[in-house]
Amino acid sequence: MFPLQIAGLRFQPNGRAILDGLDLELCGEGISVVLGPNGTGKTLLLRLLAGLLPADSGSIRWGGAAQPDGRLAMVFQQPMLLRLSVFTNVEFALRPQALTAAERRARTAEVLERVGLAHRQQDCARLLSGGERQRLALARAWAVRPRLLLLDEPTASLDPSATEQVERIIREIRTEGAKVLMTTHNLGQATRLADDIVFLADGRVQEHAPAQRFFAHPQSPAARAFLQGELPWRIAFER
Ligand SMILES: Nc1ncnc2c1ncn2[C@@H]1O[C@H](COP(=O)(O)OP(=O)(O)O)[C@@H](O)[C@H]1O
Ligand SMILES: [Mg+2]
Repeated sequence: MFPLQIAGLRFQPNGRAILDGLDLELCGEGISVVLGPNGTGKTLLLRLLAGLLPADSGSIRWGGAAQPDGRLAMVFQQPMLLRLSVFTNVEFALRPQALTAAERRARTAEVLERVGLAHRQQDCARLLSGGERQRLALARAWAVRPRLLLLDEPTASLDPSATEQVERIIREIRTEGAKVLMTTHNLGQATRLADDIVFLADGRVQEHAPAQRFFAHPQSPAARAFLQGELPWRIAFER
């Protein structure tokens, strides 16, 4: 499944190029964070990788193959939860897998424990707070044991304490061996989580670098401008 190689990816609805020949290669370890201005195609890139949309041209190769041979899960910015219990939301996601009902229940209980929602398992998912919903969405994705986890702005509307809980879970998923590719507009979060940064602007990857180097010495003018524009906000969020 890795390296994941994206070459010349174009997405141009109605002739307007949003992704305009995007190239990127990702290894199978660690947390890669996609940064870039609003509307630059970060969410779109994740959706294309998840196979939710077709690209207009270009190629996506998974370890040399056209299709990934490992599992892939995506968590959306606004997770869609079923109007059912917290437990069933996770258990349902496991139904397509070759597991017995007992195995499904055991795995569901295990991931709910790990995201701190075991005590809410009988509650309706719609009653959860924003942070709890996001943790449930992560539990649902984690339960399928993905080799690649795609996370779109996983803490976009969460307060600092809920954000910290979500970040802890993301780190744990990485430690278990899943590759994480996520977007965020929280630069503090990017510095806390990222092993490498993929900086997107004008439809292409302008820079792909180890996180420390990216923040200390951004190479591209676009990345420098982006980091400078976000600087006051970044300081406010760094702890
Ligand atoms: N399925 C789609 N069809 C047409 N345009 C889309 C589609 N998805 C996203 N876009 C457009 O692509 C641009 C990038 O969107 P998005 O990926 O959401 O940006 P970001 O996540 O970087 O803020 C936006 O102008 C958006 O309207
Ligand atoms: Mg987005």
